[in-house]
Amino acid sequence: MDALLINGSTKLEGEVTISGAKNAVLPILAATLLTREKCIIRRAPNLSDVSFMGQILESLGATVKMEDGVIEVQASRITPFGDYDLIRKMRGSVCILGPLLARLHKAKVSLPGGCVIGSRPIDLHLKGLEALGVKIEIDSGYVIAHARRLVGTEVFLGGRAGPTVLGTANIMMAATLAEGVTIIESAACEPEVVDLAKFLNAMGARVTGAGSPTITVTGVPELHGAEHEVIPDRVEAATFAIAAAATGGEVVIHGARPDHIHAVLDKLREAGVKVERNGPSLKVKRSGRLKPVDITTLPYSGFPTDVQAQMMVLMLLTPGISIITERIFESRFMHVSELARLGADIAIEGPSAIVKGGRPLSGAPVMASDLRASAALVIAGLVAKGKTLVKRIYHLDRGYENIDAKLRKLGARIERVEET
Ligand code: EPZ
Repeated sequence: MDALLINGSTKLEGEVTISGAKNAVLPILAATLLTREKCIIRRAPNLSDVSFMGQILESLGATVKMEDGVIEVQASRITPFGDYDLIRKMRGSVCILGPLLARLHKAKVSLPGGCVIGSRPIDLHLKGLEALGVKIEIDSGYVIAHARRLVGTEVFLGGRAGPTVLGTANIMMAATLAEGVTIIESAACEPEVVDLAKFLNAMGARVTGAGSPTITVTGVPELHGAEHEVIPDRVEAATFAIAAAATGGEVVIHGARPDHIHAVLDKLREAGVKVERNGPSLKVKRSGRLKPVDITTLPYSGFPTDVQAQMMVLMLLTPGISIITERIFESRFMHVSELARLGADIAIEGPSAIVKGGRPLSGAPVMASDLRASAALVIAGLVAKGKTLVKRIYHLDRGYENIDAKLRKLGARIERVEET
C-alpha cells in the first residue's frame, strides 16, 4: 500500500492545472444509463472512484472505454441488478438508482453504507423516488425498487442538513423519462448539479432551474447519446489555493472556475491571502501574517464541507483562535487527532473545532481517514519541519489526480513510498 513521504518547510511556486470534477463525472456517468446510445465524456479525471464507476456500469451490461481523460459509454442492453460488493464500496454509485428506474422501471442495488464522515442515510433519495410512484423495499442490504410507471410530481428534498446533492441528481435523472412534470423543491444548487443538468439536456431532456432551489423536469419518451466536457474540480482548485497560502508561496491555478469557489476565496482574502483572478486562472500568494477567520460549512454557495479540513490546516498556522463549525456531516473531524501528532492544538466542542493557531508543526507519521482529511494532512506535511509520512493514501487517489506529481512541479519534496 502506498504512502506519501513529505519533506516539509517548502514554499509552493509555479503553475498547476486543475482536472475534471470527481463529483460531476460520477453522476454524469450514471446518467449514461438513461440511453441506449453512445455517450462521450471529456475531461474525465483519472481517479480510482471514476474507474470504479466504470466497473459498475460494466457490471450492469454497458460497454465502457476510458482513455486519456475521455470516457465512452454505451448502455445498449442493461440489467437492473447491480453488483452488491462493487456498489456497496462507493457511495457515489447510489446515483445509478434514478437512471435504472427511469429506463427499466426496476432496480436492485446495495444500500450504500455510512462512512467515517457520517451516517449518510439516503432517505431523501427514496422519498423522492416514492413520490414519482416507485415502490421501495429494503431487504438484506439491498434497495429493491420497481414501478409500473413514473409520474411527475412536486417533491421537497430538504433534510436535516439542508439539500442533498446526489439526492437531487437521482430525482432529476429519474424524472427525465417520467410522465409529466416534476418540480424538485429545496434542490441542491451545487455546480455539479448544474453540470449534470447540462448533460441531461444535451441528451434531449428538459431540465430547467438547475443551480436554483427549484428544478423543473418535463419528462420525455426517450433520450439519445451526447457528448459533454466535465467542469473543473472546484475542491481540487480550493485545495491548491490553500496549499499555496499555507506554504507562503505563489501559485497560478489554471483551468479552475473561480466563480465556483467564491466562499473559499472570500475566506482566504479575509485571512490576508492575496487572490487575483486573471480570466479562468487564479493567482494565490501569501507573504505576510495570516489572520484567524471563523468558518461554517454550508450547502452551496456557502463554504464547502469538502474544503473544511484543508482550511483547518491554514488556521493552524495563524496566530490566534479560529472556530471551524461543520454543519453538513456529523463526524467530519477525523483529521484533528492526526494533526495533533504534528503538534496542532485543536479542541472539539460539539459541531465546532476551536483551533489555537501559530504553533510550529513538526513532521510525523500520520494516517489518512478519508479523502479530504488526507489532503489536509498533505498540506500540513508541506509546512511541517522535517519529514511527514501520510499513510493510506488510497483515500487521496480517490479524488485527486496525480496530486504528488502536481505538487512536485510546484517545488514540493514529496514522494510515493511503499507503506511499511
Ligand atoms: C456529495 O455527497 C459529495 N459526493 C460529497 O463529497 C459532499 O461532501 C456532499 O455532496 C456535500 O456537498 C459526491 O458528489 C460523490 P448530501 P452526497 O446528500 O450527495 C444528509 C468528497 O469529499 N442526507 O448532499 O452524498 C447527509 O447525511 C465527498 O468529494 C440525509 O440526511 O451528500 C448529509 O449530512 C464527501 N438524507 C447532508 O444531507 C439523504 O437522503 C448532505 O449530504 C441524503 C443526505
